[in-house]
Amino acid sequence: MRFRETSHTMIMVVDKACSRQTDHQEINLSSQAAPSPSNGPNAATTREFTAPARVNLIGEHTDYTGGLVLPMAIPFFTIASITPADSGYSFHSDLFREVRTMSPDDRSEGVHNWSDYPVGVLRELQLLSIEPPPFDLRLRGNVPFGAGLSSSASVEVATAVALLAHADVTLPAAEIALLCQRAENGYVHSPCGIMDQFVITAARAGHALLLDTRSLTVEHIPMNHAALADTCIVVCNSMVKHSIASGDYGQRRRELEAGQAILREAFPQLRDLGDATIDELKRSEGAMSAESFKRCRHIITENARVRAAKQAMLAGDAISLGELMLKAHASERDDFECSCEEVDFLVDTASHLQGCFGARLTGGGFGGCTVNLVAKSSATAFVATLKTAYLERYNIYPDTYICEAVDGAIERTHHTQNKESLI
Ligand code: GLA
Repeated sequence: MRFRETSHTMIMVVDKACSRQTDHQEINLSSQAAPSPSNGPNAATTREFTAPARVNLIGEHTDYTGGLVLPMAIPFFTIASITPADSGYSFHSDLFREVRTMSPDDRSEGVHNWSDYPVGVLRELQLLSIEPPPFDLRLRGNVPFGAGLSSSASVEVATAVALLAHADVTLPAAEIALLCQRAENGYVHSPCGIMDQFVITAARAGHALLLDTRSLTVEHIPMNHAALADTCIVVCNSMVKHSIASGDYGQRRRELEAGQAILREAFPQLRDLGDATIDELKRSEGAMSAESFKRCRHIITENARVRAAKQAMLAGDAISLGELMLKAHASERDDFECSCEEVDFLVDTASHLQGCFGARLTGGGFGGCTVNLVAKSSATAFVATLKTAYLERYNIYPDTYICEAVDGAIERTHHTQNKESLI
């Protein structure tokens, strides 16, 4: 395990002005620092790929309405090991018993277990006429399930980069993210946006990734400018399980899209909520349900908060960034209504603790994790006090992780024997 609860080292990246990129960035599939090799009988032919998890700093539920998100990749990992096989495809997991095998021309539907995530990715590659040679794929990792840290997207991206490398095909990062999102939407039938797959594919160590989900342009925003260098990101898991597939996420999405459709009718120049203003929303209030109005208000104000958060980060202004996080949480709680009592308690408690600049619910919601911006010097006491308060209130011991921002998916094949596994 690579998480430190009581001490923290941010990856220090001396600020270069943030770089602007288009969606043509290629994911680096070359062998990189690879401390945990496969040592099995096929180690010589096995290649290993790793994909991180993510936490979203701000910009929640904006990623399916052309809005802005500002997540970072964090050091939980899915590892995909791929070995050439004689015939057919097989999918194994160190965490689940079911093994899925299929022939290359199999186009069957999902089977409603873990294997639908990697098989969905294979399907999307096949739809692009990419037919990997026979393989055995084995997945393992340590991304917590149902915590809102994107275990699904981590599995999808790890699978995609492994299968692409095995098929000797290179795709731009944005294409990889999009095909993984299509796999989740179309094969797993989970209506997620593009944020998770994108940041897990394209993140840069020491940086948050500002993504415009309409144009798919990205900016890598340094996490350590000025006063921010003295802060760290603490993720606190409420242990209340969250699942995008469970229905609440889809319902919020439908309410939001109904409001967006009404706005578009009233203002035909609007492409999506990413363009809308509060004034336009107010003028359409009478035409939409109270729920749609509140969901749209969350998105419009959230996009503005992401823009302000970018400026705060570039200025190294931890106080402003923290205030924006608290406002974002209030909007998730009151307008998007995707929080829950336990998460509200964690945010409220955190916001009163020494050294905490801001806190909010992160990810899809209805449970899951909070993300906290905390002074490094206060992090140990912050974590201890928050845990104790939650334990006393709910009799639940919350997991906490002090996270550095890591790179997106990479290959880590390394054929040195007898090295200890990282996880
Ligand atoms: C989940 C989805 C993302 C995004 C967030 C909410 O993590 O997978 O696409 O919609 O919820 O911001």
